[in-house]
Amino acid sequence: MSENLKTILEESKKDAYMYVEFPHKKFWNNNLRNDLNINDYFGESIMNSKDKSYLYYIHIPHCHTQCLYCTCHVEITKDYNVVKRYFDFLIKEIDIQINIFKKYKVYPKITDLHYGGGSPTFLKKDEFDKLNDKLKNFVDFSKLNECSIEIDPRRIREDMMHFYHSRGINRVSFGVQEFDKSVQKMIARVQPEFLLERLLTKEIRDKFRNGINFDLICGLPGQNLENFEVTIKKTIEFSPDRICLNYLHVSPKFHPHQLKMPKDMLPDEVKRKELFKLAEEFLLKNNYIRAGYDHFVKNNDYLAEEIKQNQASWNRLGIVTGKYTNTIGAGVSATCKIEGKLYYQNCFENNVYEDRLNKNLLPITKYHSLSKDDQIREKIIKDIRLFFSINKISINNEYQINFDQYFKDEINSLNLFFDEKLIENTSKDLKITKQGEVFSNLIASKFDNYLNKIN
Ligand SMILES: C[S@@+](CC[C@H](N)C(=O)[O-])C[C@H]1O[C@@H](n2cnc3c(N)ncnc32)[C@H](O)[C@@H]1O
Ligand code: SF4
Repeated sequence: MSENLKTILEESKKDAYMYVEFPHKKFWNNNLRNDLNINDYFGESIMNSKDKSYLYYIHIPHCHTQCLYCTCHVEITKDYNVVKRYFDFLIKEIDIQINIFKKYKVYPKITDLHYGGGSPTFLKKDEFDKLNDKLKNFVDFSKLNECSIEIDPRRIREDMMHFYHSRGINRVSFGVQEFDKSVQKMIARVQPEFLLERLLTKEIRDKFRNGINFDLICGLPGQNLENFEVTIKKTIEFSPDRICLNYLHVSPKFHPHQLKMPKDMLPDEVKRKELFKLAEEFLLKNNYIRAGYDHFVKNNDYLAEEIKQNQASWNRLGIVTGKYTNTIGAGVSATCKIEGKLYYQNCFENNVYEDRLNKNLLPITKYHSLSKDDQIREKIIKDIRLFFSINKISINNEYQINFDQYFKDEINSLNLFFDEKLIENTSKDLKITKQGEVFSNLIASKFDNYLNKIN
């Protein structure tokens, strides 16, 4: 291996953001001005963006047990009363949103709906129906492009799949992570295959016309080329329409349960990349195409066409069609993106959530208004992650800049990548080569000017 490549590899060991948002949430402002009426601020933002299409996201943070790798915002409980209490406040939050829509006489055009978590499969049928009845105040379920839910296969039976379908859900995403039993034990998530088999009968599959997604993780303790090959082959047998193959994100500072995974069994950066490459090789041979940094879609999935046309988008749900640009969230930690240039995030703590809602205030505690520079960098980072290329001409036209001058320092910082032929730089575009794709998150981070602002 060349010295350049060793340096690049060393750099890619550093913690990296997933760039679900840019800038990362840690740089958003959490000091809302005292004179700011957040309900009105929200209402005005929706008003200013009334013609846009929206995703509505609902966060159910509850899970029965803690998977050791997980970095999602979750609350572990087995007590359904805890879920019900949260649920009542969630409905209160949606009521406040509805009142704001009424006051401003503007209802956002919701084209996509997603139930996420934690584990939305924790909700029983009664609560699910009450939630949907509330949403029907402003969501026309018959007109949704996509209505999706994250499924923990350990927690539901076939009847719930039929139930979800009867309530308008047309896409389902399964938390699979890994099929190998010894790895499953090390991550405290034992999930025999029959749990998936019984939820994925032909009859059930046919109901979800927008497809089936599997979440897998690469970099879990005990994974090696032999057992991961078996996992990928099993995945191919299940034949999901889309696969999200995440690299394990490690941040024990915020998720101390991760320290319970055997550290000496965690694959290092080189092994992680080898595991990913192995998976890629098998998936490409079996009619999947790569859809950005960590996703694969079947050749005949409608998202494959969008990827080929450079039209897909990327958000906290993974890779999605580029049909909506705005998001409204509900529930603890949920984020909103309005006007394509303003982010909000709800609080994480239940007591703050309840306190704000009891005062009839939206539980938003963080926000960030994207400057023009943020918007350009956000676009570049997303294009790198999704399409492995930046079209300089279109960036220049859209933002009235000269790319090569504007990003002179960033381009210089990529010299090692050019030398190693991991990126090609032409007058029209910056293109990541096939060998460079495994480094695209690192390449994206070179355009993140907030990284210099870390303490
Ligand atoms: C909300 S969960 C999926 C639904 C359900 N709770 C379940 O686990 O089946 C979201 C997904 O995030 C991914 N995930 C969570 N923590 C991760 C981490 N530290 N690194 C990479 N992916 C992670 C997992 O693949 C997981 O399926
Ligand atoms: S992976 Fe899913 S079930 Fe496990 S803790 Fe995270 S959100 Fe909960």
